[in-house]
Amino acid sequence: MDLSITVNGMKFPNPFVLGSGPPGTNARVLAKSFDAGWGGAVAKTVSLESAKVVNVVPRYGKLRSRSTGEVIGFENIELISDRPIDVWLDEFRQVKKEYPNHILIASIMEEYEKSRWQELTRMVQDTGVDGFELNFSCPHGMTERKMGSEMGEHPDLTQEVTSWVTEVAKIPVWAKMTPNITNIREPAQAAIAGGAKGISAINTILSVIGVDLDTLRPMPTVEGYCVPGGYSAQAVRPIALRMVSQLALAIPDDVSISGIGGIENSHDALEFMLLGASTVQICTGVMLQGVKMVDELKEGVEKFMTDKGFNSVQEIVGKSLPYFSTHMDLVQKMKAAKRSKAGEASRDNEWAQKDITEKTAELTSN
Ligand SMILES: Cc1cc2nc3c(=O)[nH]c(=O)nc-3n(C[C@H](O)[C@H](O)[C@H](O)COP(=O)(O)O)c2cc1C
Repeated sequence: MDLSITVNGMKFPNPFVLGSGPPGTNARVLAKSFDAGWGGAVAKTVSLESAKVVNVVPRYGKLRSRSTGEVIGFENIELISDRPIDVWLDEFRQVKKEYPNHILIASIMEEYEKSRWQELTRMVQDTGVDGFELNFSCPHGMTERKMGSEMGEHPDLTQEVTSWVTEVAKIPVWAKMTPNITNIREPAQAAIAGGAKGISAINTILSVIGVDLDTLRPMPTVEGYCVPGGYSAQAVRPIALRMVSQLALAIPDDVSISGIGGIENSHDALEFMLLGASTVQICTGVMLQGVKMVDELKEGVEKFMTDKGFNSVQEIVGKSLPYFSTHMDLVQKMKAAKRSKAGEASRDNEWAQKDITEKTAELTSN
């Protein structure tokens, strides 16, 4: 079955895309994922000066189900890529050469300086990547350098920085939103005003995964200390679904949405698509299950399309959006349904209470 979808002119062999993070760490893992059947990938976020990026260990934490031990939530305090930009430029070139039909999106982030953003955009664009995703959303670490969600939390900065990039970009630009904001529509609309053709949502939610009751230290603990990090995996999915639906109802039709947050199987992916996402990105799911999870994603979506009579992936996108309403409207609909049920019941009673010949006569015109 053809699962391809064209988004902002980019033809994805299927809508399943690796989310920026460990699944897109280098050319080797990207190649392995494309071989496994992923339609596209957003590589790990890159910047001009990798020497400024120093990661800590441990940097992950899990929230498990009390009854089964299954991982429900995942926290990380990982920074963007700590690999030199020159290495990345070579690898972007290499991946695009070997996989011309897969979509490779470069995630970029820089300090608040026009020349730096434009230099990075030009360098990366020259490698032949298909599109950009602007990381306005990493909620930890990078914020201390006024990067990531420091930009995404301020719509004026989001618009300005997006416009710096779109001024020099010849390929589609997506802006990745932080959920750590009251109204996600505001930074999204700002990015669109700055020239973004797509919105990716969501990045991680600020969190503290727990506290060690022996040492009294919050986690993840590095040399006895901690910073809040980004929460992902299935626990965040309902919040991501709400935000994606809010975006889909608010932004122009020609702006695409890439849905992200807690997707672990085809059921989850379909929910995002039905609420307006043309592609879905998966990061923690791949870290926990491996790249082979794409097999189930494909099979599940194919089965759904056959069962429901969808002829293309595009037809699924946004199909459930018309069923959102206002609370007041729900109340009115409920009252109307009650009245109609009561009407039916009283009609039924009439038949039961009257002799059938009497009722027949009543309904006869001659
Ligand atoms: C360990 C880890 C590292 C991540 N690194 C990045 C990154 O470099 N750039 C980025 O835009 N998002 C990054 N993310 C965020 C993910 O791309 C994604 O938006 C988020 O985790 C929610 O999706 P998920 O539940 O499928 O992981 C990272 C997430 C994790 C768990």
